[in-house]
Amino acid sequence: MKKTSPLRGVKPRVLKVPAYTLHAYEAGVKLNQNENPFDFPADLKEEAFRRFRARQWSRYPDFIPDRLHAKLAEFVGWPKEGILAGNGSNELLQATLMVLVGARTRVAIPVPTFTVYRLIAAILGADVVDIPLGADMSYDVDALISRSREAGARVLVVNNPNNPTGCAIREGEIRRILDEFEGFVLLDEAYYEFCGHTGFGLLERYPRLVITRTFSKAMGMAGLRLGYLMAHPDLVAQISKAKLPYNINQFSLTAAEVALDYIDRFRPAIETMLSEKKRLERELREIPGVRVYPSQANFFLIETPVPPRELFEDLYRRGVLVRDVSSYPTLGSCLRVSVGAPEENTQLLTALRDGLDSFGAAGAARPTGNP
Ligand SMILES: Cc1ncc(COP(=O)(O)O)c(C=O)c1O
Repeated sequence: MKKTSPLRGVKPRVLKVPAYTLHAYEAGVKLNQNENPFDFPADLKEEAFRRFRARQWSRYPDFIPDRLHAKLAEFVGWPKEGILAGNGSNELLQATLMVLVGARTRVAIPVPTFTVYRLIAAILGADVVDIPLGADMSYDVDALISRSREAGARVLVVNNPNNPTGCAIREGEIRRILDEFEGFVLLDEAYYEFCGHTGFGLLERYPRLVITRTFSKAMGMAGLRLGYLMAHPDLVAQISKAKLPYNINQFSLTAAEVALDYIDRFRPAIETMLSEKKRLERELREIPGVRVYPSQANFFLIETPVPPRELFEDLYRRGVLVRDVSSYPTLGSCLRVSVGAPEENTQLLTALRDGLDSFGAAGAARPTGNP
């Protein structure tokens, strides 16, 4: 490397780790980020604007967003001292890893999973211990426990349900992990509302458990960046040190409070997504050559009979944007599709059928391989 290179001082581990980026594609049907296709209800937006307008913008938000923490505490049923709101759950994953992980700390991470865990762990200098999923893309709980133990991992990260595969584990399995592995378990429940399986009931007994959730998916607030973390209050006090002061802007705080004040208003959109999910799965399974992995979240991992990148481009030309996950380990023939609004799902299905037809008989020639 040249003496004048600006990269000379950058940590070698950072240079090695691939950036987490997403090309800004525009499409009529956007099914690439597992977002809620239904916007935040219009009248609740008005309510958030009304409350926000009354605030003085020249003032910082509260140092600790006590009112939001209190509302979250009431909503989930966990003491407010054990709750921390963040600028998206990403920030809380980062803050947690920052206080638990240093150079050469072992962090166990299933493969494939959400890319951000590995990115943060690598930047912090951790040694990442890969734990492959089972052959059918489900969690191998025995492997999670034994490999984390053997490696002497300080932290095991589990995304439940897992992005991008959709697999999940139940409370009993999370308890087993906590009983048999003595490190910290960072349980990312970003898609909890679509799944229902949670480690929440274990928080009281296991102070090594940290759970993160988000308003980005089921609550339709991805654009506002709001997540929350639940853990033992003593641990939360330490994790809080790693978040930036005033991490959540006043508008997002206000909107989150409105969402919690009218929480029942979000149920219908979730119900529609869940019923659309059933339809989408049924119809995807009928497409020759497409394998659909069972999912507990608002997206499906699908294996395609044609090169996924080409199918991705073809779908995009047809106005449907999905996620090409074929560069993830073990997912070389896969795409991920989010559950959208009914009309969007219909458009996805039509585009997939037409797209695969346009590749010739490739799709029809192979069995679906669906379980
Ligand atoms: C598994 C998982 N965790 C966390 C996040 C980030 O959520 P947030 O928007 O709360 O930062 C995502 C976003 O896609 C995700 O898939």
